[in-house]
Amino acid sequence: MKQVFHYFAPCPRGLETVLAQELAELGALGIAPTDGGVAFHGDWQLMYRANLHSRIASRILWRLVERSYRSEDDIYKAARSIEWPELFPVSCTIKVAVTGVGCKLRSLDFIALKVKDAVCDSFRAACDERPSVDTAKPDIRVHVFLTDRQQTIYIDTSGEALFKRGYRRETGGAPLRENLAAGILRLAGWKADEPLLDPMCGSGTFLVEAALIAKRMAPGRWRNFAFEHFKQFDAIVWNETKQLSFAAELPNATCAIYGSDDTPEVLAAARANLTAAEVGDAVVLEEADALERNAPSQPGVLVCNPPYGIRLEEQTWLDALYPMLGNALKQRFAGWRAYYFTADLRLAKLIRLSASKRTVLFNGALECRLFEYRMVAGTNRKPT
Ligand SMILES: C[S@@+](CC[C@H](N)C(=O)[O-])C[C@H]1O[C@@H](n2cnc3c(N)ncnc32)[C@H](O)[C@@H]1O
Repeated sequence: MKQVFHYFAPCPRGLETVLAQELAELGALGIAPTDGGVAFHGDWQLMYRANLHSRIASRILWRLVERSYRSEDDIYKAARSIEWPELFPVSCTIKVAVTGVGCKLRSLDFIALKVKDAVCDSFRAACDERPSVDTAKPDIRVHVFLTDRQQTIYIDTSGEALFKRGYRRETGGAPLRENLAAGILRLAGWKADEPLLDPMCGSGTFLVEAALIAKRMAPGRWRNFAFEHFKQFDAIVWNETKQLSFAAELPNATCAIYGSDDTPEVLAAARANLTAAEVGDAVVLEEADALERNAPSQPGVLVCNPPYGIRLEEQTWLDALYPMLGNALKQRFAGWRAYYFTADLRLAKLIRLSASKRTVLFNGALECRLFEYRMVAGTNRKPT
């Protein structure tokens, strides 16, 4: 019988249910969404697949120990009970990160030090050497999660966060995180079987993520993962997993994808990113004002992350822009479903359309909304 491993996949808050669906499709068992992530279990290969294929997870953590604690010493003992030298070679660099929710202990930094000591003591006992610490680019990350009584110690199987796909060349200002963009596409119910348009595409994050979905390309196909340092790493099985994924890729996207922006420099960034992600052929890009452009095709899904601002002059400009966005939708996008993702919670009122759905999402610590508008000709307009 195959050994069962317990995992936890953190994700941007608000995407837990769509991440749970994605993990179920990858064969995860015991799926339990919680605030900020999804716990699940499965075999070792599931961890390879989740890292390679998850578009929404931020990381895949492997749970090593979960038990109650009262003091820093209990956490040291739990960390010391793990046979670290069996997990990775002493030549790997390490970093310990601690997160606490309701933890009553005084210093999370001190706990990180205690856990680092436990890892090093475990190596010293086994081979008289200890791994070095590298806080910038460690080979191995250890995550400790503390509630008021419970401690969980994980080893990170991903390494760099999974939203770092490896294709981004240009940022073009304020790009969305790739896993947030992919999660929004899933929340929009877009399944690569209807046209998609981002009329304010910036550096093209929605477009690249959509094109990868439409060409069935795994988001992790370009990068390396921390699990490649693990002693349990099986290069043959990992290569088979990647080859299976490459073989399933499609030469052409399954639907039309369009993007536009009114700023030539950011369009150049979008073009560079699409090319680097090998999906330049799947997206029609053009310079256009979102307020003036027409729908590119028969009805589909419009998704965008309009500009938002904090300074007063920006707010004045946005106060004028948002109602015009509502007008443009109403006049030229009958039959479309439109999704606006924003941190500017005034948009809902200013756009003067009735949202059919509002979803609370977090971009880091920033509370945002995803508003859905179903554009049926002649309706939606709110009375002024
Ligand atoms: C928040 S950024 C979008 C970022 C994008 N989602 C990404 O990940 O890179 C907003 C974009 O809207 C564009 N924009 C602002 N007003 C516009 C308009 N009237 N027509 C088209 N694009 C516009 C800006 O040039 C900017 O690239």
